[in-house]
Amino acid sequence: MEHKFTKNFPEMEILPLTSRVTQGRLSIGGCDLHNLAEEFGTPLYIYDEETIRLICKDFIREFSHCYEDVKIEYSTKAFSNPSVNRIIDEEGLHIDVVTGGELAIAIASNFPANRINFHGNNKSEHELIEAIEYGIETITIDSFHEIFLLDKILKSKSKKQKVMIRVSPSIDPHTHLLTTTGILDSKFGFSIETGDAEKAISQIMKLDFFDLLGVHFHLGSPIFELDPYQQAIDYVITFSSRMRDLYGLNLRRFSPGGGFAIGYVTNELPPKISDYARIISESVKKGCDKYKFDYPELIVEPGRAIVGRSGVAIYSVGAIKEIPDVRTYVSVDGGMGDNIRPAIYGSQYSVIPVGKINHKWDNKVTVAGKFCESGDILARDVFLPELSSGDLLALPSSGAYCIGMSSNYNMQVRPAVVLVNNGVPKLIKRRETYKDLLETSLNID
Ligand code: LLP
Repeated sequence: MEHKFTKNFPEMEILPLTSRVTQGRLSIGGCDLHNLAEEFGTPLYIYDEETIRLICKDFIREFSHCYEDVKIEYSTKAFSNPSVNRIIDEEGLHIDVVTGGELAIAIASNFPANRINFHGNNKSEHELIEAIEYGIETITIDSFHEIFLLDKILKSKSKKQKVMIRVSPSIDPHTHLLTTTGILDSKFGFSIETGDAEKAISQIMKLDFFDLLGVHFHLGSPIFELDPYQQAIDYVITFSSRMRDLYGLNLRRFSPGGGFAIGYVTNELPPKISDYARIISESVKKGCDKYKFDYPELIVEPGRAIVGRSGVAIYSVGAIKEIPDVRTYVSVDGGMGDNIRPAIYGSQYSVIPVGKINHKWDNKVTVAGKFCESGDILARDVFLPELSSGDLLALPSSGAYCIGMSSNYNMQVRPAVVLVNNGVPKLIKRRETYKDLLETSLNID
């Protein structure tokens, strides 16, 4: 579905859906960005509640339109926060967690256990016990070690547990190598190609306390192409039919993971949710028709696509260094500590001059962070108006994997996060303090 908003400049297309420019001032969720920066300080991450809700609804609507029995599972690693989990819960989505920490956040937000799935390639015995004790719905098994651990735990508790198995289909989704997960050379899942997936299924089918619902794979992220989903679904359903013939696998649930892309820059926009929904649903139905499977329950696992667009990072400009005929560095008060994505994946971001939107954007600059690392660059060679110290810069599409992957490098405190809705800002993560930094290291002995 296309949402309506004022089209003032191309970046509106990647900003939260409630973004407006009035008299040259940018607001999100009815909150003026200058006012937010003044009240909460910078760097500041802003999440727009309405965008999260509308995108959840879009996912449910578009997938349900193409497939009868479908669930949307928000991958909390994109941004794990109690207030966001609550929104996700209210919108009726499921979630997945990959650590005891993400589970703790889910528990703190009272997220219903029967809508939680536990992913991860190296869950500890302790984490598995915590998850089982909370009563989470499914555990997606990722290794032989995990089969062993889980079997031991379930036997000791005489408890039957619903599980999925993560397989790796050796299919390249053509994204960054570091975020590619379904190729042969990957730490994730049981490879179909090497025979591990078959071996794991044959083992699990013999275990009394395992209720194997079906098969999951996740190719990587972000995936801008539709073909890899189609190929992988076809291959994994073919494999599943062989597993049915050999070991009696009953495909009650099928999950092609997440990986749905969002727009970071205006010249690389992703397919629509409806396109992903159509290709995935058609491929699952086609494969099931071919191998005479009843249509299984379909689970898709968007992370980035749920929260990415709702989030915007706001920085203040500090030092400006001009190197004639080379480059102008505009340094801001955050950087790789709150957004490591450009440094590790070469990710591109758009930059919006919050208070100078109506000026000419004709000055080529590089926006640098404040961390002690030459690779701490947020956006290289972007066009912005003449800037001066104190100006605010906004980075759209900062809602996924920024705060989630943030660090205290250089002992920089992590930024505050504010959820905006109908003109009201709500602090959902406070800015860290020096006391927070010291607390984990002082008085140890
Ligand atoms: N399901 C599984 C099993 C996953 O491993 C992931 C992401 C997702 C779902 C959600 O993927 P999404 O829809 O968000 O693309 N730090 C990287 C992304 C790592 C994603 C890891 N797994 C980045 O900043 O791009």
